[in-house]
Amino acid sequence: MSRPLPTVFDQALAAAVRAPSPHNTQPWRFVVEGDVIEVWLDRERVLPIADAHGREARLACGAAAFNLVISLRSNGLAVVVRMLPDPAEPDLVAVIRLDGNQKALRAERQLAEAVFRRHTNRRPFLDKDVPPVVRAALKSAALQEGGQVEYLDASGRYSTVASLVRQAEALQAGDSAFQAEAAFWTHRPPESPDGVPKVAAGPPPDHHGVVTLRASHEDEDLPVREYEQEPLLAAVLTRDRGPHAEVRAGMAMQRVLLTATAEGLAASFLSQPFETAWTRESLDHIFTGLGQPHTLLRIGYGYPTRLTARRAVTDVLTHRTAPDVTAN
Ligand SMILES: Cc1cc2nc3c(=O)[nH]c(=O)nc-3n(C[C@H](O)[C@H](O)[C@H](O)COP(=O)(O)O)c2cc1C
Repeated sequence: MSRPLPTVFDQALAAAVRAPSPHNTQPWRFVVEGDVIEVWLDRERVLPIADAHGREARLACGAAAFNLVISLRSNGLAVVVRMLPDPAEPDLVAVIRLDGNQKALRAERQLAEAVFRRHTNRRPFLDKDVPPVVRAALKSAALQEGGQVEYLDASGRYSTVASLVRQAEALQAGDSAFQAEAAFWTHRPPESPDGVPKVAAGPPPDHHGVVTLRASHEDEDLPVREYEQEPLLAAVLTRDRGPHAEVRAGMAMQRVLLTATAEGLAASFLSQPFETAWTRESLDHIFTGLGQPHTLLRIGYGYPTRLTARRAVTDVLTHRTAPDVTAN
């Protein structure tokens, strides 16, 4: 096929870097060669303490890959996605190849547009239920990417998981290496191209409610506020485990987040229990028989907050020239 217009790839790459990542580390690199975009894990940007195995970084790369795909599809391009990593090239997480034209669906255009509005909202949400039809839409979003959403309220697992979040948060609060890492990446000025700016932090809670957001993402200069009583908690799961499942889970997570954005919902993450060994084991145990949990989302209705900046696409992009097969 003919080479894609540069603007279509430019738009797709601009969408890719809008993906969420732990502490806004943006642990990705992209290589463009002809009509192929490769997504690579950038090991230098994997959090050594909170994410020693690169699990959260692979979720982030999966989310970036999903943004690429949805952006290309919304521009009327068909794509073939090869999910990796493969053992020989563990940091190459996905290869996206253009595969002709295909009429963009309205839903795809809506998700592509939501990429530039989605953000993590760490502020209090309204005490307003997410209607069943919207919950169903989020579940279906995960399924479309080979993932699964499990709501915690329907199962009696809510208080157990909320308690694991609190326990993990307490363990991390007493861990100086963990705290130093979080301090390095948070409370940045608004224009910082990576890390979490102070403006994206939430106010301190007036009392500790059922769910505990990360204290390192609190802005102590804001007045204390009451948070919603019982936010909707959704776990994103996959059937399998391992690096491949983590990339797949990142794609599913991103389709869920973009669907939530398109539905007017706000979301934030509760990753603490995934980051300490025993709380992680307990989480795995809770979902035995259902799949491997990868991330926990707090979802509800909130007031919009500011977007967080990103590094420029040119900082994360390499063009590779294809070997000239006509030579000789
Ligand atoms: C795998 C993963 C884990 C995350 N965990 C947390 C978390 O525990 N607490 C939090 O407030 N934000 C968490 N985040 C959100 C990031 O901090 C956020 O995506 C990043 O700062 C960029 O901001 P944005 O999402 O508003 O674009 C997580 C993001 C990812 C992808």
